[in-house]
Amino acid sequence: MGAGIAQVFAAAGLHVTIFEPVAGVRDTVRCSIAADLRLFERDESLADAVVLTDDLAHAVAGADYVTEAALEKLELKQSIFADLVRHAPATAILASNTSVIPIHRIAAGLPTSDRIIGTHWWNPPGLIPLVEVVQSAGTSLATVAATMNLLVSIGKAPAHVAKDLPGFVANRLQHALWREAIAMVAEGICDAATLDACVKNSFGLRLAVLGPLENADLVGLDLTLDIHKTIIPELDRMDRPNPYLEQQVAQGRLGFKTGAGFRTWSQEEMTALRQRLASHLLQAQRNRAPT
Ligand SMILES: NC(=O)c1ccc[n+]([C@@H]2O[C@H](COP(=O)([O-])OP(=O)(O)OC[C@H]3O[C@@H](n4cnc5c(N)ncnc54)[C@H](O)[C@@H]3O)[C@@H](O)[C@H]2O)c1
Repeated sequence: MGAGIAQVFAAAGLHVTIFEPVAGVRDTVRCSIAADLRLFERDESLADAVVLTDDLAHAVAGADYVTEAALEKLELKQSIFADLVRHAPATAILASNTSVIPIHRIAAGLPTSDRIIGTHWWNPPGLIPLVEVVQSAGTSLATVAATMNLLVSIGKAPAHVAKDLPGFVANRLQHALWREAIAMVAEGICDAATLDACVKNSFGLRLAVLGPLENADLVGLDLTLDIHKTIIPELDRMDRPNPYLEQQVAQGRLGFKTGAGFRTWSQEEMTALRQRLASHLLQAQRNRAPT
């Protein structure tokens, strides 16, 4: 995600420095940014301007704006933010790309929280417009406004999330769907391929132009209420990860990483799916681009 986010800032003509502690990764970052720029039909030489360093203090010394995109581990993020507060200019905005961790947990105990904010980008950052801008109790409105303006200026579609809850908005919605999907497969209602086909061949087709609440308005809230009276009591309400998911992980069925997850995947199938996704998202981006 860090390379993808850097690519978006670099493509917008901004000066970008990346701190990456792992030498093997650092060596590949510029190539991966150039490959993304090429895929997104942008000038790939913009990647050459990105500075790479293994020195965090040097990376952020003159920064106006910092995005942290390290592993999804609270203690690591807390320690990185402590370093950022120490080494970045006192005026710099410090943003975390955490997927689900509330921002106030990352900022806990730091001498400043007004300029600490969540910016939850989506993968791939160059093709998905949304960035959720998460305001925690300590984040100043000036930081929210400056972050929203910056993201608009680089072509993103930021959404201000005014409460700092785990998963923000879009991941809460996405994982509510995944929870029900996993429960149905676990209960043998259908297999994983059938479940995915049900989504892709129905409301999945509409979602890019019709949000769920627009959809409710479209069909009518009276019908929505009647449907909910029957279906809501039936939906999965487990308050922890489904044991079926835990079992898959325990058996080493991690998905693409191991060639099997809910389904088995050959190398060709994985490549084909990745390509279909990239070309679909590229086409969606072209459709969105102003004429
Ligand atoms: N992968 C996604 O689709 C996605 C989407 C949105 C948000 N996120 C979030 O973005 C963050 C990064 O996820 P990812 O999938 O890119 O992970 P990743 O494992 O691909 O990348 C993490 C990078 O952080 C580096 N790193 C390790 N220690 C570090 C340190 N002390 N300081 C700085 N960097 C360090 C690693 O070397 C690695 O290059 C996580 O918080 C994740 O939840 C991921």
